[in-house]
This record gives sequence, C-alpha cells and structure tokens, in this order.
Amino acid sequence: MTTNPLGDLVASLGHAVVVTGTDTDVGKTYATAALTVSGWNVGRRRIAVYKPQQTGMRGGEPGDVDDVARLARAAGVPSEALTTAEGQRLTEPMAPPPAAAIDGVELLPLSEHVMKIVELQESHDLVIVEGSGGVLVELDGDRRTIADLAVALQEACGEPGGAAQTGRAAAETSGQLSSPETSEPVNAVERDGGTVSTVLVARPDLGTLNHTLLSLEALLHRGVEVAGVVLGSWPADPDRLATSNREYLADLPPVAGRRVPLLGAVPRGWGGAA
Ligand SMILES: Nc1ncnc2c1ncn2[C@@H]1O[C@H](COP(=O)(O)OP(=O)(O)O)[C@@H](O)[C@H]1O
Ligand SMILES: [Mg+2]
Repeated sequence: MTTNPLGDLVASLGHAVVVTGTDTDVGKTYATAALTVSGWNVGRRRIAVYKPQQTGMRGGEPGDVDDVARLARAAGVPSEALTTAEGQRLTEPMAPPPAAAIDGVELLPLSEHVMKIVELQESHDLVIVEGSGGVLVELDGDRRTIADLAVALQEACGEPGGAAQTGRAAAETSGQLSSPETSEPVNAVERDGGTVSTVLVARPDLGTLNHTLLSLEALLHRGVEVAGVVLGSWPADPDRLATSNREYLADLPPVAGRRVPLLGAVPRGWGGAA
C-alpha cells in the first residue's frame, strides 16, 4: 500500500487548496489527507487543514480534520507539522443552514472563513480547506457556497498575475464586509503569487461523469480556478465501469472553454480504511 497516493501533486497547486466534491461521501476527507501527505513530501513543513463547517458532530467527537490528522500521521507526516481548525461545528448531519437553525446559532459569514484561512496562510506554507458536501451546498446565511469561498480566497490571496491584497480588503471588495468598524485593512498578506487552487473530488462509479461535469460547470462559471479532479476512492480491482469512467475523466470534454485534468486517485483502503 502506497503511503503517498497523490505523489508530488501539491508542488503544482497553490499555497491554499480548496477541496470540494461532486457529493458528500465521495472521499474529500481522504483526498484532503492525501494532499497533506503530498504537501509534506514536496517540502511543505507547516500545513494547516481547515473545515469551515463541520456538521453532524457534537462537542468533542472527532471531525473530518481529526480524520485527516490520523491518516496523515499514519502516512508519516509528523503531528507538529499539522494544524487543524474548524470554523464552526453543528450537531445535525445536514447542510449548514438547517443544521444551524436546529442548533439555534447563526452561521459564520463567509468573510470570517476567508480571514481565518488568510491568517493560517500567514503561518503555514500549505492550507487545505475541505468544504461540506458538494459544490453548491450553502455555507453561510447569505446563500454563499464553497465556490464563493474559493473565489473570495483567490481575490484575498492574489490571483495568478494579480496584485496581492489584504484578506480583509479583498473581502470588502467582494462585498462581504459591510459594517464600518470592519473597514480598516488588517492581516496584510505579503505573498507573491500566493495562489489558490481548487480540487474536485469525484467517485469512480456509475453517475460520476454527469456529476463531475455538472460540478465543473458550476465551479468554472463562478470563476473558480479548478486545478483538476481527484478520484476519492479508487478500487484495488476496478471493474469495467470504473476503468471506463477513469479513462473518460482523464480526457474530459472542455468545460467553459477549459480542459480540466484528472490529477490522481486515492486507493480505496488507503490509511487502513475498509
Ligand atoms: N480512499 C479511501 N479508502 C477507503 N475508504 C474511503 C476512501 N475514500 C472514501 N472512503 C470511504 O467513504 C467514506 C466517505 O469518505 P470521506 O472522505 O469521509 O468523504 P467526504 O469527505 O467526501 O464526505 C469514508 O468514511 C470511507 O468509508
Ligand atoms: Mg469529509
């Protein structure tokens, strides 16, 4: 069993990587762990994993970031190299808005997540952000999604060729901060080309082609810089369907004028899971 399923992939990604998926349970957490291992293997020594909304968890229960830490440690990433953080934890295993309503709490605004991630970027050389569910799941009380968070981060961290801005200033530019007391720029990000990449995690089985193309359309039409697709759980003994799907995903038709590559696959059972 390989302990670094995505090889040196992180070397070609930005310093912040947003991990989203075609659905829930597609292997985003496993892919996040594999990206962490890839990051360590290409020399990133301070890695942070951030989960904006952790739903379906009570108080001290281990969440996705704890699973990432366990898998990464098992693959040789030292505990000291990894910081894990959650934006908000909600009890019910539902989309954040109804889960927050049941818990009787307000959802954090998207700008808070942007600022937390920018802060993590200042002290780490790789920040991986795992979304909840699929691409268009709402993350805040304003119907913003992980696609909106990715775009806000791209603006906050300076898109390729663009001038780096402060996280807060970028959040203001994108209309996420409105109260007067938040208008003062803080957290200056002095990064040159501190870019943000988004990875879409997909299933290998029936239905994945449609879900993958739909998700890519949604991401690309919203201006998300999609680096490519990762298969979250690739079987040891793939059948004809899985093999054919993988071939198709490796040669996708252009979406929004872009050809999106298949970046790799996490073997099913990696990290000791069934
Ligand atoms: N590479 C993998 N190896 C083994 N099991 C996996 C793998 N990827 C996903 N799974 C299984 O699928 C479940 C969902 O994966 P997870 O990464 O938690 O999905 P997501 O984060 O997209 O909800 C896991 O609990 C595990 O049982
Ligand atoms: Mg997960």
